[in-house]
Amino acid sequence: MRIDILTLFPAMCEAVLSESILKRARGAGLIDVFCRDIRPYTLDKHHRVDDSPYGGGYGLVMQAQPVCDCFEALCAELGTRPHLVYMSPAGQTLTQQKARELASLPHLALLCGHYEGMDERVIEEIVDEEVSIGDYVLTGGELPALVLTDCIARMQPGVLAADEAFEMESHYASLLEYPQYTKPPVWRGRAVPEILLTGHHENVRAWQRRQMLERTLLRRPDLLETAELSAADVLYLYTFPQSDALPFLFERLTDCVEQYVRTQKKVSPTSLQRKLKTDYALAVRLLDALEKRGVVSAYEKGRPRDVLLHPEQGET
Ligand code: ADE
Repeated sequence: MRIDILTLFPAMCEAVLSESILKRARGAGLIDVFCRDIRPYTLDKHHRVDDSPYGGGYGLVMQAQPVCDCFEALCAELGTRPHLVYMSPAGQTLTQQKARELASLPHLALLCGHYEGMDERVIEEIVDEEVSIGDYVLTGGELPALVLTDCIARMQPGVLAADEAFEMESHYASLLEYPQYTKPPVWRGRAVPEILLTGHHENVRAWQRRQMLERTLLRRPDLLETAELSAADVLYLYTFPQSDALPFLFERLTDCVEQYVRTQKKVSPTSLQRKLKTDYALAVRLLDALEKRGVVSAYEKGRPRDVLLHPEQGET
């Protein structure tokens, strides 16, 4: 993949691109990143690339001519037109999903604004989409372009170790990271969780998964709405009272329980409570929801032994 950053400050971008993993990825040819200076494209004899805004107001606005000429020169050199993203706080917010989408393109160009903004006609004329890195305003688009480049670079095959990349995409999608520890085992009286020292790989993975679920629930519950969750994951989340505030999670749990109930001839609040290792009230709520869906019928609340039936099986 190739990324061209169009900027008034190529040295600022090069400084970041020439360190650490980005440097190595570029050196190994895993990703091509080039910085193109917009200023040489100006036709102004004083090399100006900005001017005061029509209608008044403070600050300066980048002019259309040098920006469009710069992009068009790039297109002419490449013999193709890359997808052009303008880094702007008014754009769509960058997410892992958005980055993945952009990373699937063979060729991307990132346009960095500066001063008080960009002549709107640039956006109308050549920009394909605008991307923001968050709800705050920076002095220019260079840092946002570098954030996006970094995010895309680590998705390229070979940039991260193969297993790391795999885990990121499947197991780890949409959840916050579990806590990490390294030597020594005890530091300032704080011990590393014992499970991590056992060497029992399966138990360690299960612990890490539970940590991710718990952290995401407590810190960023909104992420759970799009996370890939197994039935065991959802049940674990329901061991925390915070889950009760998330209607979408109850829907997921109901989906899981529906699948289970459809494999059973009979089910009661008590049997479900035992199966899920949960409380009676939750089992009743779930069965109420399944009754609404038409999955079970005929039971009286508060009588745990009353049997619930599939509609198609009728009363027994
Ligand atoms: N330029 C200035 N602030 C920005 C932001 N938050 N995201 C993208 N580009 C920007």
